[in-house]
Amino acid sequence: MAVNISEKILILDFGSQYTQLIARRVREGKVYSEIFSFNIHIDKIKSFNPKGIILSGSPSSVYDKNAPICNPEVFKLGIPILGICYGMQLMTRILGGRVLKAQKREYGRADLIIDDDSDLLKGISSELSTPNSKLRTTVWMSHGDRIEESPMGFIPIAHTENSPIAAMRDAVRKYYAVQFHPEVVHTPAGVKIIHNFIYNICGCIPTWTMTSFIESSVSKIREVVGMKKVICALSGGVDSSVTAALVHRAVGDKLTCIFVDNGLLRKNESENIKETFKRNLHINLRYVDAKRRFLKKLTGVKAPERKRKIIGREFIRVFEEEAKKIGRVDFLAQGTLYPDVIESTFFRGPSATIKSHHNVGGLPTRLRFSLIEPLRELFKDEVRFVGKELGLPEDMVWRQPFPGPGLAIRIIGSVTDERLVILRDADSVVLEEIKKAGLYKELWQSFAVFIPVRTVGVMGDERTYENVIAIRAVISQDGMTADWARIPYELLGIISNRIINEVKGVNRVVYDISSKPPSTIEWE
Ligand code: XMP
Repeated sequence: MAVNISEKILILDFGSQYTQLIARRVREGKVYSEIFSFNIHIDKIKSFNPKGIILSGSPSSVYDKNAPICNPEVFKLGIPILGICYGMQLMTRILGGRVLKAQKREYGRADLIIDDDSDLLKGISSELSTPNSKLRTTVWMSHGDRIEESPMGFIPIAHTENSPIAAMRDAVRKYYAVQFHPEVVHTPAGVKIIHNFIYNICGCIPTWTMTSFIESSVSKIREVVGMKKVICALSGGVDSSVTAALVHRAVGDKLTCIFVDNGLLRKNESENIKETFKRNLHINLRYVDAKRRFLKKLTGVKAPERKRKIIGREFIRVFEEEAKKIGRVDFLAQGTLYPDVIESTFFRGPSATIKSHHNVGGLPTRLRFSLIEPLRELFKDEVRFVGKELGLPEDMVWRQPFPGPGLAIRIIGSVTDERLVILRDADSVVLEEIKKAGLYKELWQSFAVFIPVRTVGVMGDERTYENVIAIRAVISQDGMTADWARIPYELLGIISNRIINEVKGVNRVVYDISSKPPSTIEWE
């Protein structure tokens, strides 16, 4: 189900860690963009029919033996091109300029001195300029090689101390290139530069909004589904919730959601899901109480990966049994997002393997349904906007990620009813206080972990030997790397006090100050 939009920017990915950011910046400018691998067939580029092409950066040098190189035909399409960093060097090489092999890398902030502000660098308000001096602005550099001689037809439009050609253009062919990274926040004028390219140079009209996305995807889903039936596995997470709400907007009662309560959810979670989907949104919801079934299967299981496997397998069984009861169903709606699609198709870094075990809870391809993945083209922040527009509660739209195996991997060792009760209560204190302090949205995840180690404490005159609760709170962009959050001591104090006083079975609270890598976010 590809989107059908006429104003599009295509981004050729040469492996930069910032490629997704480029796509997001373009979309934030209300112009649709998609990332393609650098070696995509030229016909695919033509059929995508972009109004502009952006060449991303890359960890490679154009001199590397295996440097990623796109088809030179890209430069014969008559479409405006913006090369960023490696994209600039590649453009230079292909079009006959000279790239100087680096003696040393330039990394970090640099002063960009603008020599020509007539198009790409137009309207930049410069925080560094003085009256009568040339415009200056801060940019973020991260490159080795630089341009020694621009290709024929190009003129330099900006320089820095280390890069005599830090930006250049060929106004006739509408080819532009910058040595720095306009897509990162450390380049304050970056958004303006990207807008200049997409609006003024490519002529795009900003029409890509979440409202327009909802309209077009509702009509597409209707067309595909017709009179047939759709099911959706609801977990309460942002992605599946927004998928369900969107498909429901399109096909109403032809959608049935299945919500499997595995007994490993947080406090009040299953009630909230029922309330939102059944009572507020009037969606057909089949609630399956499978708590005992999961817990029985988990009895005595200590190894984290075994827990994951058991939960994943059981989930599929329960889901299939429930789906059979609905009768003939043709479609399965899934909340796949754009970053998942990019990861599975394009540059596969080491992150791809680290993440593989996280697909627990996903449904196997052997299921006999055709897939509907209406969020396939969206980034997470766009999904949240869609959810908001569709009337999902704020709490659900901004929910932090929660692992498929749930609290089972936040209880070290075996999972029991008693431990679940303790963890749920402690976790709800953490969340309540984090929300009260206004930190919830800033944190990637914040939660409690149950550690079945009995340490000594005193209560009145008595010694106690109770469990430990660890608090984990991290900041992260995508969960691949993470830093422990510098939560104020006062807040940690409140949380610790409340847990020890209110949650029976806990007499010690610790705060996890490890970053990922080398630790992970979850404890199992
Ligand atoms: P780690 O612990 O590997 O977690 O740093 C990274 C992100 O993935 C989530 N996570 C999981 N999600 N099934 C899931 O659906 C899993 O088995 C799983 N393990 C970890 C974790 O919550 C974090 O957001």
